[in-house]
Amino acid sequence: MNYQLCPSILSADFNRLGEQIHEVETAGVKWLHIDVMDGDFVPSISYGMPVITSIRRESRMFFDVHLMVTDPERYIADFKKSGADMLTVHAEACRHLDRTIDAIREAGMKAGVALNPATPLCMLEHVLHKTDMVLIMSVNPGFGGQSYIPESTRKIRMLREMIAQRGLSVDVEVDGGINSQTIDTVLEAGANIIVAGSAVFSGNITENIRKLTERIEMRCCK
Ligand code: DX5
Ligand code: ZN
Repeated sequence: MNYQLCPSILSADFNRLGEQIHEVETAGVKWLHIDVMDGDFVPSISYGMPVITSIRRESRMFFDVHLMVTDPERYIADFKKSGADMLTVHAEACRHLDRTIDAIREAGMKAGVALNPATPLCMLEHVLHKTDMVLIMSVNPGFGGQSYIPESTRKIRMLREMIAQRGLSVDVEVDGGINSQTIDTVLEAGANIIVAGSAVFSGNITENIRKLTERIEMRCCK
């Protein structure tokens, strides 16, 4: 299983973004989580293609782009051009989810599907086989620094079972409220891509990454 700590730059200090991304990469991180918010699907607005284009020049990390955007299919080509490696779209935000997944893959990127806390796993029934990753939101999307919703644990476990029953190899990402108190629970439930925003960027970044990575490695080696 491919286990990754995936720091979310939403919690970075944007005045020192390049510097902080460099610190994250130097600490050994391979995946970077980039949250794009449109002020429609979620209340807040974050950043988009120009920021991704600019950080792409400085980083070799895998860019995991989480689109909290209504009708994201409109922007697939633009995100590819800006340097995204994976686009994760919300099932709730796509009118034609199946077509959107196909279009992301045809554009040469990996395709992820995100589910809000209240959205059931049955939304994946007919698309799971063509999905590279499922993102279980463990907070309601839109802001960093919220608390983990405990019901997410059962959902991660059920998803992992669903993937195993079908003999698929789909990554399970968890996003929202992950820190040193909650990380063991989500790993144990079956998540392998672990997003962390405030838990990485508040305080000493290198030290935070070291502590969280240690927990992930303990899990991998079990
Ligand atoms: C929330 C975003 C998250 C956010 C996580 O809508 O999708 O990626 O940055 O932040 P923390 O880890 O602080 O909950
Ligand atoms: Zn996210």
